[in-house]
Amino acid sequence: MLDEETGDLYFEVAVGPKGPQAEKIRLRRDEGIVGETIRTGRLIVAEDVTTNPFHGSRVDQLVGFVTRNLMCVPLVHRDRTIGALEVLNKRDDRRYSENDRAAFEALAGQVAVSIVNARLFDQLQQAFLETVAAMVQAIEKRDAYTGGHSRRVTEASVAIGKVLELDEVPLERLRLSASLHDIGKLGVDDAILRKTGALTREEFELMSKHVRHGEEIVRPVSGMADVIPGILHHHERFDGKGYPDKLSGENIPLMARIICVADCYDAMTSDRPYRKRVIARDGDRGTRTACRHAVRSGARARVPRGDRPGIIRVSQRHLTATLKG
Ligand SMILES: [Fe+2]
Repeated sequence: MLDEETGDLYFEVAVGPKGPQAEKIRLRRDEGIVGETIRTGRLIVAEDVTTNPFHGSRVDQLVGFVTRNLMCVPLVHRDRTIGALEVLNKRDDRRYSENDRAAFEALAGQVAVSIVNARLFDQLQQAFLETVAAMVQAIEKRDAYTGGHSRRVTEASVAIGKVLELDEVPLERLRLSASLHDIGKLGVDDAILRKTGALTREEFELMSKHVRHGEEIVRPVSGMADVIPGILHHHERFDGKGYPDKLSGENIPLMARIICVADCYDAMTSDRPYRKRVIARDGDRGTRTACRHAVRSGARARVPRGDRPGIIRVSQRHLTATLKG
């Protein structure tokens, strides 16, 4: 492949006995038959490389291989050459047929499109993750005194998810959902958000709307539907006394139950301007203790109003698995 930054060539994939060594090597853009293929944008077939003026033996020497014949075709996408494909040493040193050439060129066309699509996908994915990070920053800036809360809840949620042996995709959804679980606080008035004393009933009502605000903020973003349950339901309670939908037991999405425990753990292990942390943040023991408290006491008696994570219970099965970790 052509490295767009340096202009060098590198092996993205090299298969065969010497492949792994070859993948460590970089070539100049104009080096060897591959360099000529890229310069001209044309297929080169060398039935005997020793008679080809562009053949250089540097790679062969470096990896301890002898190239006898090869076919090299450029990877071109919309008039832009992005790299090349090369096959070496046809079995029994037979000649490359017309069919071989045609098939190889057709393959190169498909490979070029696939590579460009994969790169676009990576860029989109990167942009998406950076946008999420910016949204998380927005919450953190807004609610400064819980600094780092979203990050810590994300870390704790993922840790619990791993203990529960979630697969890669649900774990990634959990990570996103946990990092954005309080995004709806952007829609809550500062006077309530920053209030250090107990919230009045009306204030609590307004504060509890943050889960709906969160859902509304995220719902229009395509590809985010799967993370909404964690945002919308992270204040439900196992006994059905939470909000917004009074879901109970395992009707609460697992993602939301996990975020709930992680949220509770963070609330209990963090200092607030108006109180010290309830439980020391001392690694595994702290996590286990906090989870146990989160489940047994619901943290209700321990966490002041307005700072109450609201959560509280994971099922016994999930709790056992969590605490085992
Ligand atoms: Fe919340």
